[in-house]
Amino acid sequence: MNVEEAIRTRRSIGKVKDEPVPRELLERMLEAAVWAPNHHQTEPWKFVVMTGEGRKTLGERTQKSRPAFPKPFGAGEAELHKREEAKANRAPVVIAVVCSPSEAPRVSRAEEFAAANSAVQNLLLSAHASGLGAVWRSGDPMYHPAMKSAFGLQPQEELVGLVYVGYPDLQPPEGKRIPAASKTIWIEA
Ligand SMILES: Cc1cc2nc3c(=O)[nH]c(=O)nc-3n(C[C@H](O)[C@H](O)[C@H](O)COP(=O)(O)O)c2cc1C
Repeated sequence: MNVEEAIRTRRSIGKVKDEPVPRELLERMLEAAVWAPNHHQTEPWKFVVMTGEGRKTLGERTQKSRPAFPKPFGAGEAELHKREEAKANRAPVVIAVVCSPSEAPRVSRAEEFAAANSAVQNLLLSAHASGLGAVWRSGDPMYHPAMKSAFGLQPQEELVGLVYVGYPDLQPPEGKRIPAASKTIWIEA
């Protein structure tokens, strides 16, 4: 698959099979991720790969940040715990992507996040090129300080995405984008 084709045909795949993903494909995705551009060569990313029972840690960590958010009406503690666990089990693999920004004075924090987000796009494209389906998920609990401390992040670090990966179990709808021409101004001599 050439890069243009990969970019245009990649879709968020929210439903995947409960089938293990070979580790070599995951390693290929991670290796693609670290080739994202980054200013000052800071390489400001870290990955936490959760598979099998390892995904329980995500459910438990989300659970820890949950008291900060309103409870769905009528749901008890046990029910909420089950829901968080089920969310973490939506795919056989969940990769938490962390931006670990350099604190060097010449380095812009915004640029560190730009680089980490580019790494996520590389993960998604590599998954797609390997015939895997993936979706970049986030949500308020992911950004909550309790989630951050549950993952053992430093104060300057943040989670930028939870990438759910597996073999696709749906045919995604055709992608739609506004043509770039209507978003572009050409300044020419
Ligand atoms: C920063 C970021 C956060 C996202 N969070 C979610 C999310 O929490 N849940 C979700 O279903 N999709 C999430 N997405 C995926 C977008 O919904 C998806 O990319 C968009 O609908 C376009 O579809 P496509 O990826 O198939 O082109 C997120 C995407 C980005 C860039």
